[in-house]
Amino acid sequence: YATTHDADLVVIGSGPGGYVAAIKAAQLGMKTVSVEKDPTLGGTCLNVGCIPSKALLHNTHLYHQAKHDFANRGIETGPVNFNFSKMMEYKVNAVKALTGGIGMLFKKNKVTLVRGVGTIINPKKVEVKGEKGVETINTKNILIATGSEVTPFPGVTFDEQQIITSTGALSLKSVPKKMLVIGAGVIGLELGSVYQRLGAEVTAIEFLGTIGGVGIDGEVAKTLHKILAKQGMKFKLNTKVTAVKKEGGMVKIEVEPAKGGAKETLDCDVVLISIGRRPYTTDLGLKNVGIALDDRGRVPVNNRFQTTVPGIYAIGDCIHGPMLAHKAEDEGIVCVEGIKGMPVHFNYDAIPSVIYTTPEVGWVGKSEEDLKKEGRAYKVGKFPYLANSRAKTNGEPDGFVKVLSDKNTDVILGTHIIGPGGGELINEAVLAQEYGAAAEDVARVCHAHPTCAEALREANLAAYCGKPINF
Ligand code: FAD
Ligand code: NAI
Repeated sequence: YATTHDADLVVIGSGPGGYVAAIKAAQLGMKTVSVEKDPTLGGTCLNVGCIPSKALLHNTHLYHQAKHDFANRGIETGPVNFNFSKMMEYKVNAVKALTGGIGMLFKKNKVTLVRGVGTIINPKKVEVKGEKGVETINTKNILIATGSEVTPFPGVTFDEQQIITSTGALSLKSVPKKMLVIGAGVIGLELGSVYQRLGAEVTAIEFLGTIGGVGIDGEVAKTLHKILAKQGMKFKLNTKVTAVKKEGGMVKIEVEPAKGGAKETLDCDVVLISIGRRPYTTDLGLKNVGIALDDRGRVPVNNRFQTTVPGIYAIGDCIHGPMLAHKAEDEGIVCVEGIKGMPVHFNYDAIPSVIYTTPEVGWVGKSEEDLKKEGRAYKVGKFPYLANSRAKTNGEPDGFVKVLSDKNTDVILGTHIIGPGGGELINEAVLAQEYGAAAEDVARVCHAHPTCAEALREANLAAYCGKPINF
């Protein structure tokens, strides 16, 4: 057991940003140390984020289909029930397999793992306080990848049983009868869907007049709202929560219209608070090196991910930009390449967003609201899944693909999908946008038939010449 290490790069945090950066750095020949304070690797995404939420979304979707849809398709089952603890066990195993996988990748790539809380002492030294004591790493470079944490709700203490964050929602012991969700953003809609499918009465309270969080196209948000409402989820939009308290075994929530008006009290067994996340830099020692956070608690960096201190870099949820795993990963890779003197290029206009509800929502680039605000002349190409042979045949006709392209050049500015496989299909749109494609380019690419991807092609056809074939 070594108490001092020498490194070319210390990566603090092993989330998708940090672990990917550490592997890339080692592959580029840097002596790399990864520091992680939690017992398992993988950060928010693998432990309490992307992965466990998708395990529950997938399996509750299958259950819901078996219970409510199979009979229509000529599939006869006996009574369909769910076993909640088994579902949770499945989730735990999915997480374990992936977090364990990072340990193996570290070994394979010769990344040294040091467990404990990392504190930057000076630009060339990181101290790690772990169970075994303090270890010191002397290093040439430091990469901060410490991620984010839940934004607290003023005056509310999370017990993670009845007043819960997403972390509690991923580990409940039973399905609540009545669940309130504060914030109808990505977490509210995804985890709200999970419990709604399992029979909870779910109401989402949202301050704004639309659902889906930041960046979603208004028309998509409205369609999603309608579809989720049809599935049974209830919404209270334009509504402010003024108090949350426990009373007589229930949670009482006081709400009022966002613009002011009569108060109302709602009660529930469990309230999920999902009003956003904020950067996490506790105990990191930023003061020791004179790095000041910006007004939203983020670590300021330039376009090479350099902080104000030479040799110290930052990526992922703790810096600017959307808090997404793939954004953190890609920043990690180019940041490390930059340390090696390679070019650094990152296109923030080509980062996809996906909401893993049923149907899935995926988008990239500008929304119609963005383009109107910019005063940019644009064309709209829309194609409904109702007219897509595969979606229709599969009995999944809800939703559409919408492509926004420049009115003069036809260059694609944004793609918005709500419908079957939207989370997969969006990647084709990202590729097109990253390569600076025009709508005509995608419209002329041969697409396999019958696939839902043909809806993307037809939407591009509609954007470039105004006339799709099948609608
Ligand atoms: P994190 O994953 O937060 O990792 C930071 C790591 O640093 C942690 O392991 C932490 O323990 C460690 N750390 C912090 N400080 C120190 C220190 N001083 N010393 C040592 N270690 C330290 N994104 C998607 O793209 N798709 C999704 O489907 C998705 N689903 C989500 C679902 C939920 C419920 C939540 C909460 C988030 C979801 N996200 C999703 C967001 C995604 O999890 C984050 O964007 C991503 O994890 C950010 O990666 P990161 O590496 O920047 O930070
Ligand atoms: P979010 O930003 O998506 O949504 C928060 C919502 O809460 C917004 O609609 C906001 O208007 C609303 N809100 C804020 N304060 C409120 C209040 N006081 N009362 C009522 N409503 C209020 O944040 P969320 O859902 O907490 O997720 C955090 C982040 O995690 C996301 O922004 C995203 O980066 C990441 N994430 C990504 C996922 C994905 O990619 N599929 C899934 C889950 C999380």
